[in-house]
Amino acid sequence: MDAIDAIRKRRSVRRFTDKPVSDADIEELCRLGLLAPTDSMSQAWSIIVVRDAKKRAAFADLIVRGGARYFEMMRPPAEGASPEEHRKACEEYAATVMETYPKVPAWLVGLRVPRTSPGDGSAYEPVIRDANMISVGFMFENMMVAARAKGLGTVATVFHLLVEDEFRALMELPDHVEAPVVSPLGYPEEFPTSLPPALKKIKRHWTTLVHDDAWGNPRG
Ligand SMILES: Cc1cc2nc3c(=O)[nH]c(=O)nc-3n(C[C@H](O)[C@H](O)[C@H](O)COP(=O)(O)O)c2cc1C
Repeated sequence: MDAIDAIRKRRSVRRFTDKPVSDADIEELCRLGLLAPTDSMSQAWSIIVVRDAKKRAAFADLIVRGGARYFEMMRPPAEGASPEEHRKACEEYAATVMETYPKVPAWLVGLRVPRTSPGDGSAYEPVIRDANMISVGFMFENMMVAARAKGLGTVATVFHLLVEDEFRALMELPDHVEAPVVSPLGYPEEFPTSLPPALKKIKRHWTTLVHDDAWGNPRG
């Protein structure tokens, strides 16, 4: 599969089999990730590959619980549902949509590791942080596209940020390291060929998002 095909066919995967992923494939994904552009060659990034069975189980549990909190915030409660009923419904929903997460063979964690930040609270700090974060995003996208080309599924995930203290403890992160994005990595039950209907409905046509020469001239 060429790069254009892999970009086109990458879709967020949320149902996985327990088929193992080879060490060689994981190593290649990491190395391809780390070929992404990085601000000032700062390489203000690292990756944690989680394969240990106990850690994976704890990871999946944490993501599902973080997801439940996210849904609790974002999804409207059913009519007449009490806050407690809404919370329970969101926990059940999270457990259902991420039902296969406990058997995912590996997790990837994208890290920002500041290396060039002056650390003096200067006006450049936010600029450098943004540049570092963008680089981590590029790295992760490289890995997700390369995974797709290998028949492997991923989904950029931020649910860990809703249970961040527990997540940081599990990954033993030092205070200066941030983990903006994680992903399960495994063979999908099947690759989604299109977006779910609810997302399809809200997907903007590309022509409305491309402006010529200046803001205000969208193509559609
Ligand atoms: C920064 C970022 C964070 C995301 N966080 C989550 C998440 O926490 N859980 C999840 O299931 N999907 C998450 N997604 C996946 C998006 O929902 C998904 O990319 C989007 O709906 C488009 O679908 P596609 O990836 O199949 O094109 C995230 C995507 C991005 C880029």
